[in-house]
Amino acid sequence: MSQADTWHGRRAVVVGAQGGVGSLITQKLRERGAHVVAMVRKAYTDPAADLEVVLSPLADPPSVVEACRQAAQGPIDALFVASGAYVGGTSIEATPPDVFEHLLWTNARLPYYLLQGLLGPLRERRGRAVLIGALAAEDPRAGQAAYAMSKAALHSMVRSAARELQGSGATINALLPSVIDSSENREAMPKTDPSLWVSPERLADLALSLAESSASDLQGALIAVRGGL
Ligand SMILES: NC(=O)c1ccc[n+]([C@@H]2O[C@H](COP(=O)([O-])OP(=O)(O)OC[C@H]3O[C@@H](n4cnc5c(N)ncnc54)[C@H](OP(=O)(O)O)[C@@H]3O)[C@@H](O)[C@H]2O)c1
Repeated sequence: MSQADTWHGRRAVVVGAQGGVGSLITQKLRERGAHVVAMVRKAYTDPAADLEVVLSPLADPPSVVEACRQAAQGPIDALFVASGAYVGGTSIEATPPDVFEHLLWTNARLPYYLLQGLLGPLRERRGRAVLIGALAAEDPRAGQAAYAMSKAALHSMVRSAARELQGSGATINALLPSVIDSSENREAMPKTDPSLWVSPERLADLALSLAESSASDLQGALIAVRGGL
C-alpha cells in the first residue's frame, strides 16, 4: 500500500496547523490524500480549497468545546496536536503568573479539553491521536519549571488516555522532540549547530507514521526524538 493509499478517504484534525510542525503535518496529510480539518486561531489569508478550517480562539474551555463540536461534524480518523508554547530562562520565583498560566493552558489544559471533545469520535473510527510533548519535561533544567511541568502533564495525560482507549482499536501516542530546527531557535541559539536539532520535516513524517496502520500496536508511547543531541 502506498503512503497516499493509507490516507485516502481519511479525515484528520490538526491543532496548531499554522505552526512550524503543524503546517508540515497539514501539508503532508493533504499531499497523501487525507481530508484535513485545520483547527486554528487565525484565519488563513488564502486557504487551500481542500482544507476544512475550524476557526477558534482556543482560549478557554467553552471555545475548545465548540471547536471540537465543529470538528466532529464528520468522522475523525486522526488527531494531531501540534500546538504548544515555550517560555523559559526564568526561575520559579521570577516567573510571572500569566506566563505560568499561559504555559499550563497551551501545553496541558488545552490538549486535555481537546481529548475530552475528540476521543469519542476517534474511538468510533478506531482512530489515532498523536500529540507533541517535549523531551525537556523528562529531564528539566533550571529556568524551565513551568514549561517542563506543563509538558509533563501532557505526557501523563497521554499515558492515562492510552489506558482508557485500551481494547477500543484507537491509539494515542506522543513524540517528545529535544530542539526543533526552526528559525526562532536558530535566532535564539546562534552558536549551536542546527544539524544537531530535530528536522521539522522528519518530525512531521514521524507524526504521520504513528497514525498509519503499521503503528496500530503502539499505545501510550512517549517517544524521544533527540536528533543529534
Ligand atoms: N520548537 C522546539 O524546539 C520544540 C521543542 C520541543 C517540543 N516542541 C513542541 O513541538 C510542537 C510543535 O512546535 P513548533 O516548533 O511547530 O511550534 P510553533 O511553530 O511555535 O507553533 C506552535 C503552534 O501552537 C499554536 N498555539 C500556541 N499557543 C496556543 C494557544 N494558547 N492556543 C492554541 N494554539 C496555540 C500556535 O498557533 P498560532 O499559529 O495561532 O500562534 C502555532 O500554530 C509544540 O507542541 C511544541 O511545544 C517544540
